[in-house]
Amino acid sequence: YLQQEEILAQKCKTLISSLPKENGWVASNLYKYQGFWNTPRQLQGIMTCQEHFEARDSDVFLVTTPKSGTTWLKAIMFTLMNRMQYPITQEHPLLSKNPHDLVPFLEIKLYVDNQIPDLSSLNSPRLFATHIPFFSLPKSVHDSSCKFVYLCRNPKDIFVSLWHFTNKLRLQEMGTNSLEETFDMFCRGVTIYGPYWDHVLDYWKESMENPHKVLFLKYEDMKECPIDNLRSIAEFLGCPFSNEEEESGMVEQILKLCSFDTLSNLEINRAGKLSSGEENKAFFRRGEVGDWKNHLPTEMVEKLDHITEQKFSGSGLEF
Ligand code: A3P
Repeated sequence: YLQQEEILAQKCKTLISSLPKENGWVASNLYKYQGFWNTPRQLQGIMTCQEHFEARDSDVFLVTTPKSGTTWLKAIMFTLMNRMQYPITQEHPLLSKNPHDLVPFLEIKLYVDNQIPDLSSLNSPRLFATHIPFFSLPKSVHDSSCKFVYLCRNPKDIFVSLWHFTNKLRLQEMGTNSLEETFDMFCRGVTIYGPYWDHVLDYWKESMENPHKVLFLKYEDMKECPIDNLRSIAEFLGCPFSNEEEESGMVEQILKLCSFDTLSNLEINRAGKLSSGEENKAFFRRGEVGDWKNHLPTEMVEKLDHITEQKFSGSGLEF
């Protein structure tokens, strides 16, 4: 069993040795790069894609904070953007593939482990996912007129979801992380792609300044008004539903196919694994708003609410 640091390219090893370091939530340490905490592998992926990714104006990025519902939005955006090529039938790719295998993460799938993929043959519009913070996106992305759909979720549910998820990923002999210990780290911002608040705020501000570039969504709103939100995504991406599609119930069909119940009960998501090794079922836990009420004692709720109010104060963003 190798430490992640040992398998990095020399350039990244050298950089890492100069970065602030903390213990991670799973197996590897976290390093603070450009203001955010990353595992060594993620960091190398970010650096490789900063150096090599060539954006197209037509590219679409789904950007999320981890555990904000990435899997769900990957399914929705894939189905929406490919609805001509893949109508909703028994042959639909989502029925036999996990959303993470259909919409790859830039830095943790395509540019992982120093790989430099050839993405030039992909048809436009290309759809990618990423957790990279706004100011760390590759320069070519900033220079292009590509579009971002940003999904965030309330920090209490994010924390609970991340605590469960990372404990599932830990090797059995490592034991589980306590709620208290990880809560302290989350509050200090020491979590993958954290501080959570900074990640969200940077995209929020961009969405305020450039609403045609960034569509800012909340998991809670998606749950409450999925139909309206899906229509907004389609319009934002320049592929609104036609009258015929609306009349045929396409919006509802996409949402049903991508629902927690449908996806989590598919054989591929109950028993399959991602190419990176995680079990698909780890991405489907409860899929509800407010599960924090079942886990967090009052003091934690108050502390997290307080931090969130302070960080988001004056931004117009609230949960
Ligand atoms: P919970 O742990 O609260 O259940 P991500 O995809 O960003 O890793 O986020 C995972 C969270 O989204 C988990 O939250 C998971 O259950 C939830 N989720 C996964 N698929 C979903 C879907 N189709 N609809 C709603 N929530 C979903």
